[in-house]
Amino acid sequence: MDIRKIIEEMTLEEKAGLCSGADFWHTKAVERLGVKRITMSDGPHGLRRQEEEGDHLGMGGSVPAVCFPAGCATAASFDRELIHMLGEELGEECRAEGVNVLLGPAANIKRSPLCGRNFEYFSEDPYLASQMAANYIKGVQSKGVGTSLKHFLANNQEHRRMSSSSEIDERTLREIYLAAFEEAVKESKPWTIMCSYNRINGTYAAENKKFLTDVLRGEWGFDGFVVSDWGAVNNRPADLTAGLDLEMPGSFGMNDEKIIEAVKAGILSEEALNTAVERILRIVEKSYAVDKTAPYDKEASHALARKMAGECMVLLKNEGVLPLSKEDKVAFIGEFAEKPRYQGGGSSHINSFKTESAWDGANKAYVTYARGYFAGEDKTDEALIKEAVEAAKAAKTAVVFAGLPDSYESEGYDRSHMRMPDCQNALIEAVSEANPNTVVVLHNGSPVEMPWINKVKAVLEVYLGGQAVGGATLDVLYGDVNPSGRLAETFPIQLEDNPSYLYYRGEGDTVEYREGIFVGYRYYDKKKMEVLFPFGHGLSYTEFSFTNLKLSAAEIKDTDTLEVTVDVKNIGSRAGKTVVQLYVSPPTGDVIRPVRELKGFEKIFLAPGESKTVSFVLSKRAFSYFDTEIGEFRAPSGEYGIEIGASSRNILQSASVKLTESKSRRLKVGMDTIFLDVLKLPDAMPLVNEIVRKMDVADAGSAESMGEGAAEMVESVLGYMPLHAMVSFSGGKVTFADIEDFIRRINEGGDF
Ligand code: BGC
Repeated sequence: MDIRKIIEEMTLEEKAGLCSGADFWHTKAVERLGVKRITMSDGPHGLRRQEEEGDHLGMGGSVPAVCFPAGCATAASFDRELIHMLGEELGEECRAEGVNVLLGPAANIKRSPLCGRNFEYFSEDPYLASQMAANYIKGVQSKGVGTSLKHFLANNQEHRRMSSSSEIDERTLREIYLAAFEEAVKESKPWTIMCSYNRINGTYAAENKKFLTDVLRGEWGFDGFVVSDWGAVNNRPADLTAGLDLEMPGSFGMNDEKIIEAVKAGILSEEALNTAVERILRIVEKSYAVDKTAPYDKEASHALARKMAGECMVLLKNEGVLPLSKEDKVAFIGEFAEKPRYQGGGSSHINSFKTESAWDGANKAYVTYARGYFAGEDKTDEALIKEAVEAAKAAKTAVVFAGLPDSYESEGYDRSHMRMPDCQNALIEAVSEANPNTVVVLHNGSPVEMPWINKVKAVLEVYLGGQAVGGATLDVLYGDVNPSGRLAETFPIQLEDNPSYLYYRGEGDTVEYREGIFVGYRYYDKKKMEVLFPFGHGLSYTEFSFTNLKLSAAEIKDTDTLEVTVDVKNIGSRAGKTVVQLYVSPPTGDVIRPVRELKGFEKIFLAPGESKTVSFVLSKRAFSYFDTEIGEFRAPSGEYGIEIGASSRNILQSASVKLTESKSRRLKVGMDTIFLDVLKLPDAMPLVNEIVRKMDVADAGSAESMGEGAAEMVESVLGYMPLHAMVSFSGGKVTFADIEDFIRRINEGGDF
């Protein structure tokens, strides 16, 4: 395709037309110039391809497909290879179905457990979210199919999602909300990015030039097209100027007309329109660089979905009851054993070609089933509980399959609390009283409160594990697969503990992110707050040792990289995978920072007795915070902890590195600068002494009369004193001219 030539030949109407969809899932073709349409489909954890007519709410039908574990689960795998494989699989499915761009992954930060769409999102941690997104994108795109990384930016709740404004300070945006997208964009180059519905600091994402153009393209080098979330456009010419190329699903030509009028009126330059057209055409061209393939093997894909689900499950608690023995009498209790909840509602809803429950795969010679509750209604049914209690009493182990029903979490609305249905809590209480060996298997897309936690022996979090979740649950319960998932989010004891609790959902359309950078474990760890299960937590059936943590240097400059190695050994008797988590703990200096932040992770498989050395390479960004004064990430000089942990609360090995910042900022001293800051300049002392002597304040008598602590007091009074105050405090002995001279000399003092 000679794209430049095509643009030259396109009429203004054709160009404006190309910038909006032909229908729900297609762009427009320009047949006379040989421009074909492209097909987009949801995503993220399966393919929801609809025939020509469609909807974006997950209500209409779609082609039968394979539903893989949702983002909440795949993130818990902490496994780049696994999510890359998921991407490849989806890419192949797209190829077979003629889909050119898959609408996913969704990298939004889990700010609150209440967000209705948390099940689609990866983590409360931006590094983990971005890494998972990057590898998903690489997998899909390796098959010649594009992705749409979404929802850019700061779409962290469903409540009023099309009008609310996420009010976020710059540092928090950079370190948390942008960071969740940043590495994914830089490292994996998604073909497209979907802007979110909401506003950010007052400006709609769709018309936010700062993020769509300056950051995305200018700073991160994004070169694909930006598509609106479905219906997110509100001012088409302004959006286009800001960097929004494609409006989906379109506005029946009405917004195209506005583009034409704006170009004719000189409000919108034709160059800007040409740029958007060119970006879209480049993706059209890429889309047709690969052919549609033959139908793909859904059964094989189902088997993969089962394998993946097993690797995502998180064993939260286990007091010696798991794995189960295949010869033990076990009672499966709860409707989810028979009809698991395995995906969430909304645009990601997959028409699964088949599903597999734990009860389907159970060996009925040893396992019994009791329904326990009706998933659709939260009404405690005494007869069902009685039946469950009897089943539990007759078994060695009772496994309650519980979690959140569909209506509790979905795209489109938020949860109003973090509790499970009362009927399920009551069932767990009753069963655990009847049988001391009670295990709970949880199906949910976001944390829940567990009032019964001390009464049960084990809890297995299977999240929304996709259509094969039942089989995968059996694999883990019976020990055919060693559990190796780790929490990608903290489970607080109660909702009120969550850092966003006081301001979540906001007032009207204003949602203030007042917890700032202290999202998830960054907050709980800083507050030393007790949590139900910390970020990174997950148990195993075997045991691993972490030893011999080594750093490639004891001292580095911020321009250097640091290599970190640690030996991991399987010291248990079963083969299995584990996750090595690396946290960086910044120095406690002038800047307010989290206690530790995840900056590396690796998942490895080890046979019993086997050991491997795992290595990480850290560069400046791993040590940095965003300095809003200079508008850059910087790593201040100091001693940084390098920690290997089994969770953010369980650090097993630690070392430290002394980092020196190569380009320190020069403090510009002025009349308002306080002495404390002046004294931080390395060669300021002689000049300070000179002027302080002139003040002649060393009247020891008055200090003594102030009693104990007077010296400290005088020191801090001086320390906190701005330079201009020397005039009054010295009784006029120091003049403004003296201070100006002092300032000039100190500012000439070189680059500190
Ligand atoms: C959702 C997107 C989705 C789109 C198309 C929107 O409502 O927010 O995630 O890709 O619809 O279905």
